[in-house]
Parts: sequence; structure tokens; C-alpha cells
Amino acid sequence: MKKNAYKNIFDLKGRTAVVTGGVGILGKHFCEGLASFGAHVVVVDQLERDCSKFAVFLAKKYRAKALGIGCDVSSPLSVKAMVRRIVDEFGGIHILHNNAATKTDDLKAFFASTENYSLEEWRKVMAVNLDGMFLVAQAVGKQMTKQKTGGSIIQTASIYGVMAPDQRIYKGSRYQGRPINTPAVYSASKAGVVGLTKYLAAYWAAKNIRVNALVPGGVESGQNKVFSRKYSARVPMGRMARADEMVGALIFLASDASNYVTGHVLMVDGGLHVW
Ligand SMILES: NC(=O)c1ccc[n+]([C@@H]2O[C@H](COP(=O)([O-])OP(=O)(O)OC[C@H]3O[C@@H](n4cnc5c(N)ncnc54)[C@H](O)[C@@H]3O)[C@@H](O)[C@H]2O)c1
Repeated sequence: MKKNAYKNIFDLKGRTAVVTGGVGILGKHFCEGLASFGAHVVVVDQLERDCSKFAVFLAKKYRAKALGIGCDVSSPLSVKAMVRRIVDEFGGIHILHNNAATKTDDLKAFFASTENYSLEEWRKVMAVNLDGMFLVAQAVGKQMTKQKTGGSIIQTASIYGVMAPDQRIYKGSRYQGRPINTPAVYSASKAGVVGLTKYLAAYWAAKNIRVNALVPGGVESGQNKVFSRKYSARVPMGRMARADEMVGALIFLASDASNYVTGHVLMVDGGLHVW
């Protein structure tokens, strides 16, 4: 090997990366990570105003080319229009981070008990968390196939798509002032993301489109102390994650550093899944 051959394997200069759920708690960190490694970043989320504002911030801070696009990932028309706009602006797409997920607009219905969960709420969550993942991967994978450049697709699943939540940690746990749990639809949708990832990895492997899942464990974002203590006690590393700790895994999966990695489920969970 040439000296310094490995120095730039994380480099994303000249590549166009799209992040859905781009202005969320983790999404903003993902966008900053991609921009700091030189990618052009397209911030995709529900409200164009928020996406554009954050894109301006990225462009200034990282001297990156950045664009914000409002898109409902659960709508085939909206997804098609989003991909068309990106191709018009950048000529193609090299990296997709499929990351959007919803708690819907009704937290009471979202956190309802399994016995009382409404099918309507179940479908609203599935429409974004799983249908949305499929629609965006489908449209971007089609574009990558057309480009003949290959590409990297990263899909955010969750620890609770891989293992069941321990119901004992929820007693006394609160988030934004209300009792919390993890509803079955969340686990089912995220397990679906893992299955979709493996399917697409095999399906597009011959086209050099790699598809991997990034699996965060619980991230600190305003949960109360009871939750944080009980959750942390179950984690081998003894604590929750910080949002910025998800970024290294994304850069690895997005870049040439993972050129021979596809269909992988990368756990970023402080070791929670090992026992
Ligand atoms: N935060 C955690 O502890 C944690 C743990 C495991 C997995 N995850 C996963 O990580 C990802 C990011 O989570 P987060 O914590 O940043 O959540 P978040 O709620 O802050 O971000 C999700 C983003 O998705 C967007 N979104 C929702 N519906 C959409 C739609 N129809 N079209 C387009 N965008 C839509 C929201 O507007 C939001 O900005 C999600 O897939 C989530 O399930 C998070």
C-alpha cells in the first residue's frame, strides 16, 4: 500500500448526502458530521422553512453546499419531487441517510398501552417509520441505479427493533413532563427497518449500492432522572448515549472506510444488546 493510502478513507468531498429527519435531535448532528467530512448536504424534513434555515447554517459553518427541502416521506409524490429537486440541483445522490421517524401529533395516542392502542395510530407511525423508509430508499436507489455510481444507504433503526424494551424501567419515567414507554408499533417498525435493510443490501449489492442499519440505543434528550437511572443501569457502559456519539458510525457507513460492508446492523448502544 502507498503511504497515506488510508488517510482519506472517511473523506466525503464532492459527494451529495441526503438526510431525512434532518432537523431532528440526531438529524442535525448527522448533517453536521457529513458536512464536516466534505459532503454536500441535503436536509430533508417536514417543514421547508426549518430545513432551509439549517442548510444556511451548514453552508456557513462548513463552507459546504447545502440545501433544505420540505418533504413528507410517507407521500410517494412528495418523495419523488424531493429526489427530482436534488438531482436537478446536484446532478445525483451518493449517500442517503434514511432517518425520519414520528411520534405523530398525538402523544397520548402514541404512548397508549398495547391493550388500548388504536389501529389508526399504529398506521400513522408505520406510514412514516417503515413505509417512508421504503419510499425514500426506493426513489433514491432507483436514482443511484440510473447513475451507475453505486452509493451508500444508511437507515436508522433502534435498539428496540432488535431487542424488546424492559417494561420495568418505565415506572416513574417521564419525557417532556409526561409518562413514557416504547409502544409496540415503534419496535415493530424498527424491526421492519432492519429487515428492509438486509433485503435491499442483497438486492442492490451487484450495483454497488450498500445498505446498512445504524442502531442507536437510548439518547439523552430531556428524559427525567428516573428514566435515565433505570435505563443506564441496564447498559454495560452504564449510561445513555449523547446525540453526537452516533455520528462516527454514520461517517464509517457513508464513506469508503466501509466499502465492503453491506447488510450490517451497527449497534451504537453502549453494549446493551450483548446481554
Ligand atoms: N433519540 C433516541 O433515543 C433514539 C433511539 C433509537 C433510535 N432513534 C431513531 O433515530 C432517528 C432520529 O431520532 P431523533 O431522536 O432525532 O427524533 P426526532 O423526533 O428529533 O427527529 C425525527 C425527525 O423526523 C421528522 N419527521 C417526522 N415525520 C416525518 C415525515 N412524514 N416526513 C419527513 N420527516 C418527518 C421530524 O420532523 C423530526 O425532525 C429516528 O429514526 C429514531 O427512531 C432515536
